[in-house]
Amino acid sequence: MSSGEESPLDLDRLEAEALNLLGEASNAGALDAWRVRFLGRSGALTSVLRGLKDVSPADRPQVGARANRLKTTLEEFWKSKQEALREEELRLAAQFTLDVTLPGKTFPVGRIHPINRITREICRIFTAMGFQVVEGPEVEWDYYNFEALNIPKDHPARDMFDTLWITPEGSEGLKPMLLRTHTSPMQVRVMEKTSPPVRVVVPGRVYRYEATDATHESMFHQVEGLAVDEDVTMADLKGTLYTFARALFGQERQVRFRCDYFPFVEPGVEVAVDCFVCQGKGVHADGQGCRLCKGTGWLEVFGAGMVHPQVLRNVGYDPRRYRGFAFGGGLERIAMLRYGIDDIRLFFSNDLRFLRQF
Ligand code: PHE
Repeated sequence: MSSGEESPLDLDRLEAEALNLLGEASNAGALDAWRVRFLGRSGALTSVLRGLKDVSPADRPQVGARANRLKTTLEEFWKSKQEALREEELRLAAQFTLDVTLPGKTFPVGRIHPINRITREICRIFTAMGFQVVEGPEVEWDYYNFEALNIPKDHPARDMFDTLWITPEGSEGLKPMLLRTHTSPMQVRVMEKTSPPVRVVVPGRVYRYEATDATHESMFHQVEGLAVDEDVTMADLKGTLYTFARALFGQERQVRFRCDYFPFVEPGVEVAVDCFVCQGKGVHADGQGCRLCKGTGWLEVFGAGMVHPQVLRNVGYDPRRYRGFAFGGGLERIAMLRYGIDDIRLFFSNDLRFLRQF
């Protein structure tokens, strides 16, 4: 028998070493390293088998048979070790499995704020009629909030809007800046940027220097509407607002238009919807006066009118060719009517008991 690693004695030692190390392999990584070392293409056993050609012909059959048996043995032990490790892994994983009988974790779910809800609902109604939704800046120039809307300096109509100024009123050399008092400045911004036909609705925040009570907040929301084209008439305004009122407050709703004054429309109107609680009667069947409309039978929702020719001129539209209608109103007020809320201050006092109802 020749000496060297091919001798049966060395194979015995190789077997002992391999099985010993296999016993120590405690994870998939170690097991794989073991496989490479002993059974791999350049592993210990392979080099034994390759070395067979150098073994004396007399010993070769015996050594070869022994080496092949060792190979089978190592492969079998490797396989069962692999299975054992996998089982162990599963057993460990099972320890961390979800126990469905434990009380669950609750994830707080937010809600859509009532103002966002009514905004979305209103925008959906108008987009269905072909209006686009656009938004604009809350910090605004005097020019857009007043001047371009036909409300020059010292015009008494400025008193209608209790303005929060950013630049002090009357400051020299500064373009006067303010927090917009309505969404109407966006009429001007939109028309400046586009040529007719125009059809937009503009939801957004507005600000007024005002004492707070159940129907007044210094920050609230409005939605503005504007449509300009060659043949837009007051009938289009009426039709549009009828469709709106019926979509939002019910199919039987009536709409009332009465004369009103806004410097940027002519004629100007105040738009009211007949009360959907008392059906416009002002009183209930039991003789009680209706609380929602305060017995009047009507709920005012918008200021509106035909865009004033001067406003069209200010944005470079030819008023002999183009006409438009505009409307605008408070979203809180519409939400209060729609959801039966009696105090505007609830919207932004962050009372979860209130907000959770939506
Ligand atoms: N901007 C007016 C307001 O805040 C409402 C309005 C909009 C009136 C458009 C006419 C046309 O009161």
